[in-house]
Amino acid sequence: MARIALVTGGSRGIGASISKTLQAQGYAVAATYAGNDDAAAKFTEETGIKTYKWNVGDYESSQAGIAQVEADLGPIDVVVANAGITRDAPFHKMTPEQWQQVIDTNLTGVFNTVHPIWPGMRERGFGRVIVISSINGQKGQFGQVNYAATKAGDLGIVKSLAQEGAAKGITANAICPGYIATEMVMAVPEKVREKIIAGIPAGRLGEPEEIARCVAFLASDDASFINGSTISANGAQFVV
Ligand code: CAA
Repeated sequence: MARIALVTGGSRGIGASISKTLQAQGYAVAATYAGNDDAAAKFTEETGIKTYKWNVGDYESSQAGIAQVEADLGPIDVVVANAGITRDAPFHKMTPEQWQQVIDTNLTGVFNTVHPIWPGMRERGFGRVIVISSINGQKGQFGQVNYAATKAGDLGIVKSLAQEGAAKGITANAICPGYIATEMVMAVPEKVREKIIAGIPAGRLGEPEEIARCVAFLASDDASFINGSTISANGAQFVV
């Protein structure tokens, strides 16, 4: 039987690549999205991967959505908490709304995504939790007090879940992508982006597939003893 994977924010950007890569490896994949109906419909048409719309920042919506995915596909074996947003501004200009939106999606969203799935993983004695953090959770970033706080917090979630899940056959790991060629990075003003790329020893942005392949590895049986770890995939921009 194919293992079942849920990818939040799985119809665009890095998430779309993760969904497609897991599908290619034989997983039955469900992808969530928050708002872009057109992109989700196009993604499903191209890939056959079913998409589900809910706000990961809302616990009850997440719980109901996950129940629907499990009714459609079966119990979720692999959860990839990938959904994330930016609301960049220097701290002196950052509004409480910009702070809260990013906290709700990037940090509380990970709790809301994993928490309803966790009891089933414990019962079945198998699970893979993979959280997409960020280089900026490791090093901080001018203009991203909110985002960096959430991505650092995501690492705390993973390290704690790893210790709680290990005896139940569940692993929890994080990936910290560097700057990847997606809409999110392209939204950074061009001049700023050029400076960022100049600071990447690899001399280029990463490709979404370079993150998706890390996810596929962590989801696989080959990664069974890797638990509580962080894979940095950033072209040597920041060496931990
Ligand atoms: N370091 C130091 N100073 C910086 C700076 C930096 N990295 N970036 C900007 N500044 C300075 C400017 O030189 C300027 O200084 P002066 O006022 O003395 O001229 C000042 O900050 C600009 O301030 P503004 O008030 O004009 O800033 P702004 O309102 O235009 O916003 C910003 C600036 C939104 C933070 C913009 O610089 C930006 O978008 N930076 C990129 C942030 C970033 O890397 N985001 C990542 C998005 S992708 C992602 O998040 C995915 C992932 O996981 C990697």
